[in-house]
Amino acid sequence: MELDIKDLHVATVDGKEIVKGVNLKVKSGEFHVIMGPNGSGKTTLAKAIMGHPGFKITKGNIFVDGKSITSLTPDKRAKLGLFLQFQNPVEIEGVGFVNFLRAARESITDNTVDIKQFMGEVRSYTEKLAITNGIVGRTLNHGFSGGEKKKGEILQMAVLRPAISILDEPDSGLDIDAIKVVASNVNDIMKDHGMGAIVITHYSRILSYMKPQRVHVMHDGKIVAEGGKELILKLEKDGYESVIKDKE
Ligand SMILES: Nc1ncnc2c1ncn2[C@@H]1O[C@H](COP(=O)(O)OP(=O)(O)OP(=O)(O)O)[C@@H](O)[C@H]1O
Ligand SMILES: [Mg+2]
Repeated sequence: MELDIKDLHVATVDGKEIVKGVNLKVKSGEFHVIMGPNGSGKTTLAKAIMGHPGFKITKGNIFVDGKSITSLTPDKRAKLGLFLQFQNPVEIEGVGFVNFLRAARESITDNTVDIKQFMGEVRSYTEKLAITNGIVGRTLNHGFSGGEKKKGEILQMAVLRPAISILDEPDSGLDIDAIKVVASNVNDIMKDHGMGAIVITHYSRILSYMKPQRVHVMHDGKIVAEGGKELILKLEKDGYESVIKDKE
């Protein structure tokens, strides 16, 4: 899959422009990182890619393999192979986690799922992700700790096998061991299924375990700097001001 974002402008439904002309191209198998100060529009960009109803595209386009997806509903975009891990996963009252996973897989693949085989698959991923406390047997995200929610979303990603995933701060709120586990699982899914990934993060820690091809820095709704891993080191050393000033 090739995701091609062209001059994308995104506003809230009541007209406040947040993303102000983003260009970004990501292919399956590639690993991109988006960094940027709080409030620069990273989450809004991610939500717009998935078709979140709280935002509208006011200019530009999002293409998947050359076709515009901007009129597609989020479920259609998921069916094409896009996946978003939310910065703040929501609790869904009354929906069992395993049933949710199964329904999502059935909807995306248009195939019924053999429950026994599926449970085996889920179990193997929960082991790999070191998911404990029986969360898969519980209501989705209800009472999950912050880290459990994040790992739960990685489990969802593993089960759905998207072509390109957007991970919005997969490392926030995770303990030191959990960051390693999450990074290595994302790496494995990329390797085994050729998944592409856009990881939004504030910290370089997760990048000790994952090797990005390209780093993009967002500021005030635009990408203001791009580079390789060395850009992250520069940001850590000199702060965002340095790259924002370079641009202005
Ligand atoms: N529905 C909304 N209505 C009004 N303003 C909004 C709405 N959604 C987002 N914003 C604003 O848009 C800006 C960008 O928000 P966004 O969540 O995309 O930032 P971010 O780069 O993900 O920040 P962080 O690093 O803190 O997660 C913020 O100033 C935010 O308050
Ligand atoms: Mg955000």
